[in-house]
Amino acid sequence: MKKATIITDRYYKKGEVDKNIFGSFTEHLGRCIYEGIYEPGSRFADEQGFRTDVIGLVKELNVPIVRWPGGNFVSGYNWEDGIGPRDNRKARPELAWGVIEDNTFGIDEFADWCRKIGADPLVAVNLGTRGPEEARQLVEYCNFKGGTYLSDLRAKYGHKEPHNIKYWCLGNEMDGPWQIGHKTAAEYARTAHETAKVMKWVDPDIKLVACGSSGLGMPTFGDWETAVLDECYDSVDYISLHTYYGNPSRDTPSFLANTVGFNSFIDGVVSICDYIKAKKHGKKDIMLSFDEWNVWFHSSADKIEKWSKHPHQLEDHYDFEDALLVGGMLISLINHADRVKIGCLAQLINVIAPIMTTPDGSWRQTIYFPFMQASNLARGTAMDIRIDCPKYDCKAYTDVPVIDAALVENEEKQTVTLLLLNKDLEDCVETTVDLRQYEDYKVISSTEMVSCGDLCAGHSFGSEPYQPKAADNAVIDGGKLTVTLKPASWNAVVIGK
Ligand code: AHR
Repeated sequence: MKKATIITDRYYKKGEVDKNIFGSFTEHLGRCIYEGIYEPGSRFADEQGFRTDVIGLVKELNVPIVRWPGGNFVSGYNWEDGIGPRDNRKARPELAWGVIEDNTFGIDEFADWCRKIGADPLVAVNLGTRGPEEARQLVEYCNFKGGTYLSDLRAKYGHKEPHNIKYWCLGNEMDGPWQIGHKTAAEYARTAHETAKVMKWVDPDIKLVACGSSGLGMPTFGDWETAVLDECYDSVDYISLHTYYGNPSRDTPSFLANTVGFNSFIDGVVSICDYIKAKKHGKKDIMLSFDEWNVWFHSSADKIEKWSKHPHQLEDHYDFEDALLVGGMLISLINHADRVKIGCLAQLINVIAPIMTTPDGSWRQTIYFPFMQASNLARGTAMDIRIDCPKYDCKAYTDVPVIDAALVENEEKQTVTLLLLNKDLEDCVETTVDLRQYEDYKVISSTEMVSCGDLCAGHSFGSEPYQPKAADNAVIDGGKLTVTLKPASWNAVVIGK
């Protein structure tokens, strides 16, 4: 059996895990909003038309923040189309995804839905076809107490109390040529700064995310972040990162090794933030908002009917190995707890999503389960751990550790959670951690998620075989925890008093 050691010290803390790293994303795209969140005709709909089965599953995921309305969609969106009596709302051609948007779901419905699931909204403003003025007006509509045209309009439309939306994104993927209103770094930086200024003048308590690169592979990566932060260092709080991975050639060792690229993307952006801070003799750290991340490739070749309404679009059907990589990316977000303060699994329902709906009910994809465990078990302080384990080489990376792990201490609950991914496809790895500083802690629970031999099998409505199951694989003896990790497995161990 292979062996690994995790080295930790109770005094070496990486940072508080911001609950917002377990956020998600809902876009007006495919069946995410319509038939996902909102389906008035469904037998699962509540009095507002929200699907209660979906609300139940989102609550189980314990999602603290949800990004909306896009994505690429936001860069052509007029938020005013989605307010007021539904009969007066305008249907529009939606250019980002080639469909018709009827605007029966808008900012007020989104704020209400967020209240129902117990999450904060993270609202993106349109900096593609629009600019500072429309963004400022949206903040006024949402957050101004009353006594102005737009805040009184909100009251007239049923929301006397302000929505008090704290988190906002300044556009979406503005570095990408596919974006409506694509900009150069200099163009975006100026617009973002001017937009940030007036949004914060309306509500000084809001927090703003500037667009970083839409991927590490963008030719402008690095220069983009530098130019944007040079202009916006004083006016924004976070910079965004986006990443999707795929495995079209079915090379699992390389696919799972993407955690290495994910880590270096984060480290690279942290370095740029710190360079700008040093250059400006600044005091504040710019934090990272990894507000789109997931596996996305299964549905890439699917075609949709142009100008249809909420077609089946980007409905990736996830398999077992996708769940492993999602687990690995969650571990990486936790291990960067000092700087990554927002994370959004993209997306939440039906579109590259952990939750899928049918007219007869909803179901959970494989990726639902590592997310649910991390979100529920890994709240607290991320420890600054080191891992000594076997390594492998693959097409894209060398020296890939077979084990990824995160260790989170919750002082209040007196528990320690260990999340572990074994990327070795053949061998078990016996992993030990010296936890003598946690005197008298015992194993409270240990679960493993293993394949039944086929890494490319997934779930469907009524059949969800790949779930964390209680395992007899963790022992504490004299303060030393030993966990035996099965090949290609996702594991969660909780110890405590
Ligand atoms: O999440 C799907 C799309 O991926 C988003 O609309 C866009 O921001 C990204 O390119």
